[in-house]
Amino acid sequence: MLTLTPELSTGNGEIDRHHADFVEALNAIDAVEGDDVLVALDRLIAHCEAHFAFENEQMEASHFPPIGCHLGEHEMVIETVREVRRRVVAGQPEIARSLGPALSEWFSNHVQSMDAVLARYLAQPGVIESGPVQAGAAGCGLPA
Ligand SMILES: [Fe+2]
Ligand SMILES: [Fe+2]
Repeated sequence: MLTLTPELSTGNGEIDRHHADFVEALNAIDAVEGDDVLVALDRLIAHCEAHFAFENEQMEASHFPPIGCHLGEHEMVIETVREVRRRVVAGQPEIARSLGPALSEWFSNHVQSMDAVLARYLAQPGVIESGPVQAGAAGCGLPA
């Protein structure tokens, strides 16, 4: 079970509220059985679509330098959850139990690296209006 500990706070209120929803949606999958697993998976997929769209928009609007790497992780995760849903529908309900541990580890790493860097970047005055405050590395590098 994933717990939202203080080190998972990014300091960006909107992002942190979304992350609290992610924790609830992920934990809910292990708390249900039968057809309710699909309902819980749909909730997680809907959450990921909305939250990733929000972060992606923030990165695009602010010309966030390592946007490519961050977008790539979002796409990988949402495709993983969709694939788990497809397999549950295809008769492998037990595979839903693998999501909790896998995405808990991913979430902790992602939030403390990519999301934390994004939150710090967005907190710089005027960054949304004026684009990058400082030149940063492209791709998966972090801002200088
Ligand atoms: Fe992210
Ligand atoms: Fe996030």
